[in-house]
Amino acid sequence: MVSVRATGPGDWELVRDVRLAALRDAPDAFASTYEREAAYTEEQWRGWFSDRFAMFLAHLEDRAKPAGLAGVFDRDDGAGLVSMWVRPDARGRGVGEALMNAAAGWATDRGHDAMYLWVAEANEPARRLYERYGFTPTGDRQPLPSNPAVPEIRMRRPL
Ligand SMILES: CC(C)(COP(=O)(O)OP(=O)(O)OC[C@H]1O[C@@H](n2cnc3c(N)ncnc32)[C@H](O)[C@@H]1OP(=O)(O)O)[C@@H](O)C(=O)NCCC(=O)NCCS
Repeated sequence: MVSVRATGPGDWELVRDVRLAALRDAPDAFASTYEREAAYTEEQWRGWFSDRFAMFLAHLEDRAKPAGLAGVFDRDDGAGLVSMWVRPDARGRGVGEALMNAAAGWATDRGHDAMYLWVAEANEPARRLYERYGFTPTGDRQPLPSNPAVPEIRMRRPL
């Protein structure tokens, strides 16, 4: 069973640990880098928690560590889904979908009618997950900010 909860500033160390594990595990999946965020101060991690940004942690009942993480923030044209990561030993169990449900609920509550994300073009597991969830390519394409050799595409899902 997957459960998902919203986090707050008091969770900053837990969020930091999961986020750094994500950046180490999948460097070409994210716009940021392990080196950059490993140097963040407590104040910078606490700064992630704001009115316009929600960070969700997923848990599986048979795992002590959090199973995954995803963030969602307000954009002018909708909600932006970021930082999606599922721990390798928790993949294939619906954790990604549960995190997206939480992000979509947050976005809907805030009146958004669409959710957007960027995904590396060659990231097949992530693209399959997003396509299954109703995301389609917008046609926008750009180099991944953390590694310009990797192209990423933008996807959108109506809410
Ligand atoms: C993409 C990701 C979040 C998917 O999470 P998940 O909870 O495993 O999602 P799903 O259970 O829906 O599986 C999605 C795909 O992962 C793959 N997968 C399934 N079980 C898996 C396992 N045990 N181990 C590895 N990959 C697996 C499959 O390709 C699956 O697609 P399919 O069902 O069409 O075959 C996860 O693979 C991940 O964290 N990847 C690294 C970070 C990343 O790419 N983030 C996205 C940034 S845009």
